[in-house]
Amino acid sequence: MADSPAPIIAYYNGFDSRGKWAEWLRRAANGFDVRVWPGEDVSKARYAVVWAPPPEFFRQATRAQAVLNLGAGVEHLLGISEIPAHVPIIRLSDAGMAEQMCEYALCVALRILRDMDVYEQDRSAGRWRPRAPRAKHELAIGVLGLGVLGARVADHLSSHGFAVSGWSSSRKNLTSITCEVGGTGFDAILTRSELLINLLPLTSETRGILDRSTFEKLRPGAVVVNLARGGHLSEGDLVAALDSGRLRGAYLDVTEKEPLPAGHPFWTHPKVFLTPHVAAQTLPHLAIEQVVANIGRLERGEQPLNVIDRTRQY
Ligand code: NAP
Ligand code: GLV
Repeated sequence: MADSPAPIIAYYNGFDSRGKWAEWLRRAANGFDVRVWPGEDVSKARYAVVWAPPPEFFRQATRAQAVLNLGAGVEHLLGISEIPAHVPIIRLSDAGMAEQMCEYALCVALRILRDMDVYEQDRSAGRWRPRAPRAKHELAIGVLGLGVLGARVADHLSSHGFAVSGWSSSRKNLTSITCEVGGTGFDAILTRSELLINLLPLTSETRGILDRSTFEKLRPGAVVVNLARGGHLSEGDLVAALDSGRLRGAYLDVTEKEPLPAGHPFWTHPKVFLTPHVAAQTLPHLAIEQVVANIGRLERGEQPLNVIDRTRQY
């Protein structure tokens, strides 16, 4: 009797132009038939392993029983109507990203604490103007989102001595972090924060959360750090708040359109610090390890880890 054919994985990753991730997946998913789309036939695939696929991918991979995302954020997948409602969407959890988020957040916090942005402006203006030192506990930081990444960032900043508050949907109990929930908790965080770090998922509830009304509740001269998604931020409101002096600066790793279009004000605004969506990059070996472990669970009929809840959208 002929052997039954190997289960097929349909793979799409727009950022894997050299095919390195596909190679990793092939090696780790030993025994599976990994088909790279576009180009190969994915119509009989049992699993879809993807990063930012176009809807067309799912018009081909119609038999996928699970979608395994090569990232933490899933808003893009939730917008694809071709993925049937009963098919689980599985996200990455950490996969090397939490440590990088901690590094990024700490860099910004130290830069603000030590007034590096102000000294940069002073140098341009030819001003020699020492400022008084501040202790870390005098810098109040608010972290929006206390999930896999936000909780790690909050803990990291707190362990360095900063005064940290965090905001989430469900109440948390985290050592040395003032944890808030709900509308009044949100306002309480804003009122006390001089540095606001966004690590929320992009959902219908959180889209546009970094807008004028939020900036007006922050401490005067606060700094906004968006490490999550461009859709969280009202870009026009941010520029207005920076220009009026309401905000001291913005550190943006993500923008509404990526890559940021030529001529966009963020390219040249003196109070904007911009990085190209690199705050935390998925480490391929850890990501593939998680994906393959979850495919193993599915093959054995077990519940996979990190399945997102479609109702709450993360
Ligand atoms: P996560 O584990 O799902 O955590 C999300 C957190 O946000 C949870 O604490 C959740 O509260 C909270 N939350 C969700 N909706 C809320 C609401 N309406 N009000 C208050 N709190 C709310 O996600 P993660 O792994 O930490 O990742 C967060 C986001 O980071 C991703 O979705 C992605 O967009 C972004 N990201 C960016 C990069 C980059 O390089 N820039 C890299 C990776 C990820 P509960 O805990 O109560 O559910
Ligand atoms: C990156 O932005 C991710 O969501 O993993």
